[in-house]
Amino acid sequence: MIIYRLPTYDDYELLRDYVVEHYSNHETSISASLGLTNMKYEDWVDKITHNSEIGDEEWGKNYLYLVLDNDRLVGLLSIRYDLPKHHRDLYGDIGYGVRPSERRKGYATKMLKHGLNVCKEKNMTDVIVGCYEDNYGSNKVIQKNGGVLCNILKKEIKISNEWTINLNSNYYRINL
Ligand SMILES: CC(C)(COP(=O)(O)OP(=O)(O)OC[C@H]1O[C@@H](n2cnc3c(N)ncnc32)[C@H](O)[C@@H]1OP(=O)(O)O)[C@@H](O)C(=O)NCCC(=O)NCCS
Repeated sequence: MIIYRLPTYDDYELLRDYVVEHYSNHETSISASLGLTNMKYEDWVDKITHNSEIGDEEWGKNYLYLVLDNDRLVGLLSIRYDLPKHHRDLYGDIGYGVRPSERRKGYATKMLKHGLNVCKEKNMTDVIVGCYEDNYGSNKVIQKNGGVLCNILKKEIKISNEWTINLNSNYYRINL
């Protein structure tokens, strides 16, 4: 059974193991980790807690969920449901990552769907999600959740697809 919850101080080992697996897979950046590898763990937890309860002017309130399947940390899900308009196009409302050993098992598809449900509960009518055009897996995850390609942006030297998902129409009809 998949559980989504905020991190606590007690999750240090889980997250360390998660990061080490990425490094062993030659991945230096951890998607949706909000600076986890750049700061003291307790400070990171405090930041995530603050973001979820109070937020700030620049980013609004947001959730960073650990995604656990039978107590195993399989992924991270960032839901920025309160983003100011100027940040939405650039960063998107939802971000996610799955640990290398758990990829291609359907987790990201379920995680995005969960994020969409949270956004719907927050009364959003649509969600913007972006990913690089060469990220085949992520583009597919978005399409499976009802994404409609709405823009193609050049981000530094890479091309990024911007997708929109209408929360009042198609996404929930899809039987994942
Ligand atoms: C992209 C990512 C999130 C996909 O997670 P995932 O859990 O493997 O995705 P799913 O298992 O839900 O896959 C959805 C579909 O995409 C396909 N897919 C996923 N990764 C794929 C890949 N690398 N190559 C080809 N197909 C892929 C799956 O087979 C599945 O297709 P199906 O429905 O026909 O079976 C994961 O690879 C990851 O964390 N990558 C690094 C971080 C990242 O890119 N985050 C997203 C930033 S926008």
